[in-house]
Amino acid sequence: MLRTNRELWFAFFAAVMITGIYLLIVYLTRAIPPAGELFGHSLGILGFLLILMTETLYSLRKRSRVARWGKMSAWLQFHIFTGLVGPYMVLLHTSWKFNGLAGITTLLTVVIVFSGFIGRYIYTRIPRTMDGLEIQNALSEEALRQARRLMSLWHTVHIPIGMALFVAAFVHMGAALYYATFLK
Ligand code: HEM
Ligand code: HEM
Repeated sequence: MLRTNRELWFAFFAAVMITGIYLLIVYLTRAIPPAGELFGHSLGILGFLLILMTETLYSLRKRSRVARWGKMSAWLQFHIFTGLVGPYMVLLHTSWKFNGLAGITTLLTVVIVFSGFIGRYIYTRIPRTMDGLEIQNALSEEALRQARRLMSLWHTVHIPIGMALFVAAFVHMGAALYYATFLK
């Protein structure tokens, strides 16, 4: 169960720190960091790695029959932390240009974060144990059933967006590295 907003605060502080470094680079170079140069490129790669962790780690822990380390709630908090900080870094990587497929990849990233907040809201409506297991409660059975139905409907939207994001990101990486890095 997510009992606090701690992960949102951690993500907020990380974003403030990253913004500070970004503004320092803007001040020192008197330019928006280009996506294909050292700082902008590093933001893209690190942000993408965080998004990759977001996509895989929580699902692996949730589905693994052998993995018992760490509470599910902590994994979900980490999922949300990396799911916010990664997209923010990738946004700074874009150098505020959104042409073609790279622009579509950014749009998909924004959509999945937005959808994540909706999912987080529905998730917290379902009573759970500390380990994320749902608690059956006869008193509010109808409301619970509705929340559960909404949650599974939400999964059928959120998961394909994540997959589309990865397909687009891999094509973008291949094309950007080929045309903008290796052909230079
Ligand atoms: C989800 C992750 C990512 C998103 C949403 C994203 C998005 C973007 C956007 C919007 C641009 C600007 C395109 C334009 O000029 O209009 C860009 C440029 C670029 N990206 Fe990414 N990017 C991501 C990850 C990566 C990664 C992991 C790499 C490297 C392996 C990378 C390499 C580049 C390069 C080299 C450019 C510069 C292209 C040029 O100068 O024409 N990107 N990216
Ligand atoms: C790049 C960003 C993100 C990606 C790629 C992503 C991907 C995923 C995936 C694949 C799942 C399915 C997990 C499973 O059932 O196996 C999931 C679940 C979930 N995500 Fe995200 N997510 C992202 C960002 C976020 C954000 C920002 C939030 C909250 C603000 C969030 C909240 C949730 C919640 C509440 C669940 C449901 C957990 C459950 O039913 O067990 N996600 N996400």
